[in-house]
Amino acid sequence: MLDGKRILLVISGGIAAYKSLILIRRLRERGAKVRCILSKGGAQFVTPLSVSALSHEKAYLDQFSLTDESEMGHLRLSQEADLVVVAPATADILAKMAHGLADELATTVLLASAAPILVAPAMNHRMWLHPATLENMHKLELRGVKRVGPNQGPLAEDEMGIGRMAEPEEILAAIEAQFRAGGRLAGLRALVTSGPTHEAIDPVRYIANRSSGKQGHAIAAALAELGAETVLVSGPTALADPPGVSVFRIESARDMLTACERALPVEVAVCAAAVADWRVAAAADQKIKKNGGPDAPSLTLAENPDILATLSQPGNRRPRLVVGFAAETENVVVNARVKRAKKGCDWILANDVAPGTGTFGGDRNTIHLVTEKGVETWPTLAKDQVARKLAERIAETLRPAAA
Ligand code: C5P
Repeated sequence: MLDGKRILLVISGGIAAYKSLILIRRLRERGAKVRCILSKGGAQFVTPLSVSALSHEKAYLDQFSLTDESEMGHLRLSQEADLVVVAPATADILAKMAHGLADELATTVLLASAAPILVAPAMNHRMWLHPATLENMHKLELRGVKRVGPNQGPLAEDEMGIGRMAEPEEILAAIEAQFRAGGRLAGLRALVTSGPTHEAIDPVRYIANRSSGKQGHAIAAALAELGAETVLVSGPTALADPPGVSVFRIESARDMLTACERALPVEVAVCAAAVADWRVAAAADQKIKKNGGPDAPSLTLAENPDILATLSQPGNRRPRLVVGFAAETENVVVNARVKRAKKGCDWILANDVAPGTGTFGGDRNTIHLVTEKGVETWPTLAKDQVARKLAERIAETLRPAAA
């Protein structure tokens, strides 16, 4: 979700600084590159050693250290960040930021940076509620500085009140929201289907397929990462919900269609689910028993609704862009072209799922993108790279001005 994003974390001097160590770890787990500056106060609470061990980067402290200036000047530090996060943000650093002070490395970098800034205030409740702090915060918010917290709860001095720094998970969510808000698909609604469907035979048995949902989930994550308000309608999978995505879990194809129709209107729909073509016409209410006789029970099947074809039907609720997948075991591109026409969708991502390709349940995919303009073959990519490439193509098509 935060792959490659450069976060500059300013740790100022509050007891909550220990939580910033957890934040560094969480950010790195999300793929972010984290550089940290300790204010003089911050260095009283956490050590540069812990910070650099967790961030895998040098911890920056002293504005006038010649080594720091030769390796990484304060201007470079401020420029090489996609987002500056101040956590904890004390009353002191908020006041300095509001008034443009640059009395040490942390404040100098904050003044020099053109990157968006997110602050996580942490202080005693009387300090937070003091008109001076509230005015400073207000001034900063008017300048576009974003804030997460502070929260209500027990404070360091055995007091209760508002002033606790937001938890690392909340700060992480605010950081992710910040990137989404600035994304190329911000404000656009997207729908993705993913995973298999389960078609009940009786209460304990079902018909299913080998889809893992990896590709669909990765697409939902990639669209959300570009800022799209993303709804994922997923059949049963073992996957975690992608961050920042509204997930609706369903079992059968018919439930998937209902959930998709509820998500409308959307501007783009990507149908990556491996929907069962057939369901059991009359699923048994009770578990079917072996009757001891020679005859195996037979199942009568009924055709499932085609979600992709339904979403592609012309009308005022049709998404501007409808994308389907074609899992083929032979004549991949020819069959995909036919499928695109038959379903009425705009794009088909065709992939070869013949035994031995490892596509189903695997991590890689070779895609042929079939559009009205022709066929484009992508190199074999990891499924999350396919997802990002597709999300970029969607952004180029639906948001050409920003491309
Ligand atoms: O017809 P086929 O299953 O090969 O088509 C695959 C494409 O159609 C995929 O995008 C899949 O998500 C979609 N599909 C659907 N509803 C169905 C069957 C397929 O949305 N009932």
